[in-house]
Amino acid sequence: MADQFDLTVIGSGPGGYVCAIRAAQLGMKVAVVEKMPTFGGTCLNIGCIPSKALLHATELFEEAGHSFSHLGIDIAAPTLNLAQMMAHKDETVAANVNGVSFLFKKNKITAFEGLGSLLGGGRVQIASDKGAPQVIESKHIVIATGSVPATLPGIDIDEERIVTSTGALSLGAVPDRLLVIGAGVIGLELGSVWARLGAKVTVVEFLDRILPGMDSEVARQFQRILSKQGVEFRLSTKVKSIDRQEDGSLTARLEPAAGGDMAILDADVALVAIGRKPFTQGLGLEAAGVELDSRGRIVTGPHYGTSIESVYAIGDVIAGPMLAHKAEDEGIAVAEVIAGQAGHVNYGAIPAVVYTNPEIASVGKTEDELKAEGIDYKTGKFPFTANGRAKAMLATQGFVKILADVQTDRVLGAHIIGKNASEMIEALTVLMEFGGSAEDLARTTAPHPTLSEAIREAALMCGDGAIHI
Ligand code: FAD
Ligand code: NAI
Repeated sequence: MADQFDLTVIGSGPGGYVCAIRAAQLGMKVAVVEKMPTFGGTCLNIGCIPSKALLHATELFEEAGHSFSHLGIDIAAPTLNLAQMMAHKDETVAANVNGVSFLFKKNKITAFEGLGSLLGGGRVQIASDKGAPQVIESKHIVIATGSVPATLPGIDIDEERIVTSTGALSLGAVPDRLLVIGAGVIGLELGSVWARLGAKVTVVEFLDRILPGMDSEVARQFQRILSKQGVEFRLSTKVKSIDRQEDGSLTARLEPAAGGDMAILDADVALVAIGRKPFTQGLGLEAAGVELDSRGRIVTGPHYGTSIESVYAIGDVIAGPMLAHKAEDEGIAVAEVIAGQAGHVNYGAIPAVVYTNPEIASVGKTEDELKAEGIDYKTGKFPFTANGRAKAMLATQGFVKILADVQTDRVLGAHIIGKNASEMIEALTVLMEFGGSAEDLARTTAPHPTLSEAIREAALMCGDGAIHI
């Protein structure tokens, strides 16, 4: 007889592994099926974690080379040991994926290595090259198979010269010239990594702005900052083709997005970072009758149920922002729903961060969205140039912007561009989760001296005005 489970989760990324742990905590007998040799999915293996390890290391490399002398620390110009930097990244990944293994054992979760597919009637097949396919039975199934990079027709990825984020996290040498296609989160984070190590980075973006979806004032200021860091932008431009030269270098043909004269751009490495697409290959969804939308995402109802009873889906493979914490929250919510509880995710208060220097962090509505929706809002904005701690840290770039409802003062959105913005946004997320007002925030004590005082001052700007400006 096949092994029986209360819940089988297909995919062990942040959506899948968190769902499995929460379900086990709620008393379910849980299986996880993962096709890769390590757990943690895109995020832990080839996404959030390795990219943040390289962003941290290269930021310190940049500071050692450029800011230390101003602080009275005179050192010889730092030299790069790329192999050691990559080893740090690999060790960070290993520690995190091993952590997931430990948590599976601790929570008595049974892990299967292989490609999971739906056979119908609660049966899941696990196929691996290590032996004959295995079949298990489960009362409930959660699909958490994530996403993979989108590619451009006619541009072949080899992960050495023409790379996705996966190759860009493991280059063996700093390219002299890096072409980045797409000015989204991956392009700007990984573009920053290699620019800090000495690459001449050119970002080609189809739209007339960077970071679509982010607040446009933040995006404009950030583009100016990155340009000063040496990153070159070609907006409203598309890459038509990339030719490989005999010496291995690349020649890209660029064309204005609206059509017009071609331009040539030579590069040593090209990073294709034009978005990600849901991954459902090999799951047997068509035979099982699971409905997909026009973008290949699994269609789900309000409680993550698919068109098949007792089959659910979460994370990058369904609609919504492709973010690890969104996948995790959905993992917890669906486990609670299956356990008969009221699992819920507040999609109005999911923060988003770009981990560059300075960082960008936002939660809730952008000014562009509020204008489009005709909502009457007020803006409180405070620059880090007027913040004492930021001056001490040589981190005066950027600002905090809070958007609040004119009638009720309720905070509708917040946008931070500045050092440590990723840590600061949590205060605003909690405030929004509790339906707080700008005045609530303005009356909350912030420790002095901290960068977070800029949040309070921005909240004061929504009312009678800040103290330090
Ligand atoms: P995934 O993490 O993609 O996991 C899916 C898992 O399912 C994979 O392990 C896959 O092997 C497995 N799988 C697929 N099909 C099957 C099958 N049939 N059988 C068995 N296993 C299967 N997000 C953030 O919030 N913050 C960040 O800083 C951040 N940085 C990123 C940096 C990069 C370079 C990239 C590429 C992404 C980054 N993201 C970040 C996005 C984040 O990685 C994803 O949103 C997140 O991993 C989605 O989680 P998931 O569980 O839905 O899917
Ligand atoms: P993205 O959607 O953030 O940006 C893609 C960019 O490419 C857009 O600006 C788009 O206009 C542009 N583009 C699309 N087609 C193009 C073309 N043919 N030529 C030129 N430009 C083109 O996607 P990205 O950066 O690939 O990231 C994928 C996902 O991973 C994102 O949805 C993001 O949420 C997630 N991620 C999150 C991170 C974080 O939270 N810090 C870090 C990295 C990724």
